[in-house]
Amino acid sequence: MKCRKCSAKAVINMRQHKLALCKEHYLEWFLAQTERFIRKYRMFTPEERVLVAVSGGKDSLALWDVLVKLGYQADGLYIGLGIDGGVGYSAQSYEKVRKFVEARPGLHLEVVDVASTYGATIPTAARVTRRGKGKPCSVCGLTKRHIMNRVARDGGYDALATGHNLDDEAAVLFGNTLHWQVGYLARQGPVLPASHEGLARKVKPFCRFYERETAAYALLTGIDYIYEECPYAAGARSIYYKEVLNRLEAERRGAKLQFYLGFLRAREQGVFQSAQEQVQLNTCPTCGQPTAVEGQCAFCRTWDQVRERVAASSV
Ligand code: AMP
Ligand code: FES
Ligand code: ZN
Ligand code: ZN
Repeated sequence: MKCRKCSAKAVINMRQHKLALCKEHYLEWFLAQTERFIRKYRMFTPEERVLVAVSGGKDSLALWDVLVKLGYQADGLYIGLGIDGGVGYSAQSYEKVRKFVEARPGLHLEVVDVASTYGATIPTAARVTRRGKGKPCSVCGLTKRHIMNRVARDGGYDALATGHNLDDEAAVLFGNTLHWQVGYLARQGPVLPASHEGLARKVKPFCRFYERETAAYALLTGIDYIYEECPYAAGARSIYYKEVLNRLEAERRGAKLQFYLGFLRAREQGVFQSAQEQVQLNTCPTCGQPTAVEGQCAFCRTWDQVRERVAASSV
C-alpha cells in the first residue's frame, strides 16, 4: 500500500476515507483535520485560552500535543482520582502526564488531587456514600466535571477541551438514541456553549477521528500513554455499545462516522430543538457552579456527606 500523496510506503490505510498515507503525510493530515474541525465548529480561536483535560490516555495527550503544535494557547489539567485497581491506575496515568510535560518545556500543567483537596479518593467516596451503588463511576463523573469547571473558571479559560474521539461519541449517541433521551441528544455535540456565567464552553476537537486514528497519531509521535482502561470501566454499557458499533463498522466501512455526522446534521436542522430543555439553572451557594436543584449542588452535597462519613468512621 502506497501513500496517496508521495507514493512512499503507507503506515495507515483509512478505508472509511479511502485514504492511505505515509508517516509524514499522516501527521500532516491529522493536524490539518484537527484545525479544520476547530474552525468548522467554532471551538476556539488562537486568541483564546484553552484548558485541556488530560487523563494520561492517548486521546487527551495527543490532543494537547496537537493544539500546541497548531499554535493554540493550551494548558493541561490532570485530576488525580486515587484509583488503584491492583495496577496503580491513577499513579501510572499521572506518571505518563508528568513525563509528557517534562519532555515539552514551557507547557503548563494544573494538577488537582481529589483526596488531598476534598478528603477522600474516588473509590472511598463511592463506598461511603453508596452513590452509584458503590461503583465509583457516578461519583467520578460528577467530581471530574466539577473540577474541570472550577479550574477553567478560576483560571479564566475560554474553552475546556476533552479527548473524546468518534468511537466515544458514537457510543454515547447510540446509548442516547436507544433510550431516546432527547434532552441528552439536544446537548450532545462537538461544542457545548457555556450555560452559566463564568463557565467555559466545552469542546471536543477529536470527535470526528476514529479511535484508531488518534492511537496512530500517538504512536507515530512517540507519545507514551497508559494503555489500560480504568479498572472500573469493565462491563460498562459504553464498552458494550462500542463493540456493537465495531461489528457494524467491520461490515459497513464508515458506518460510525455516518451515524455521527447524520446526527449532527439532524441536530443542526433543529430536529431536537423542542427538547432543548429550558431548565432554570440556579447557582450553588457553596461553590458557585450551576445546578438544576435549589440549594447546594450534587457535588457539594455528595462531598459534604463523604467527609462526614469518613470522619465518623475514623473516630
Ligand atoms: P473518559 O471519561 O475516561 O473516557 O475520558 C474522557 C475525557 O475526559 C478524556 O479524553 C480527558 O480529556 C478527560 N479526562 C478523563 N479522566 C481525566 C483525569 N483524570 N484528569 C483530567 N482529565 C480527564
Ligand atoms: Fe472514573 Fe473509572 S471511575 S475513570
Ligand atoms: Zn506520503
Ligand atoms: Zn456546589
